[in-house]
Amino acid sequence: MRIGVLASGEGSNLQAILDRLHGREGVDVVAVGSDKPEAPALARAQAAGVAVRAFPRAEHADRRARDLATAGWLGGARVELVVLAGYMQLLDPAFLARFPGRVINVHPALLPAFPGIGAVEQALAYGVKVFGVTVHFVDEGVDTGPIIAQRAVELPDATEPAQVRAALRPLEHELLCDAVRRMARGGLAFDPSEPRRVLVQPLYGATR
Ligand code: GRF
Repeated sequence: MRIGVLASGEGSNLQAILDRLHGREGVDVVAVGSDKPEAPALARAQAAGVAVRAFPRAEHADRRARDLATAGWLGGARVELVVLAGYMQLLDPAFLARFPGRVINVHPALLPAFPGIGAVEQALAYGVKVFGVTVHFVDEGVDTGPIIAQRAVELPDATEPAQVRAALRPLEHELLCDAVRRMARGGLAFDPSEPRRVLVQPLYGATR
């Protein structure tokens, strides 16, 4: 499956996909885009020999035009699955229409708690004792799409966002790679009686 990744920042989730899946298990990362030309994620992709392009908002008339340009570039690379790996922008519905049911995101909270930006800070401010990670399909809302996978971690004494992020990062990498692997193996089914419920089958012979 041809994968396109959008990332705004460090790109550790992208790196996990490159290290664990790229060129294996039917997964090929063929394009990595960003809203930020200076994003370390782009350098990581380049180092892996993957095509990269930045789509800064300032170079386009508006957000929709930027998103259409991004979708056009990914479509031109014949991308079949778009992975948002720390992409800190909302996607225009026109982008999603180009890849129906084919955009997934990783979020550093147990949705539906703490959607949007600053999820870890929101969770800390709320005083939660259990943090976590969600991988989900992207719909037109803010982190509201059907959930593919979640993992929790108890951090009853956490006070610092960096400490929580460090605990969550390995879980993100594992869950996101697992979701990509599942999509590459034929997609994920939805419960016909409850379309929000993603049916997750066991992955036989999976390797990490
Ligand atoms: C992750 O915490 C992801 O959940 C959030 O942004 C962060 C990206 O990290 N949306 P990285 O750029 O993949 O290292």
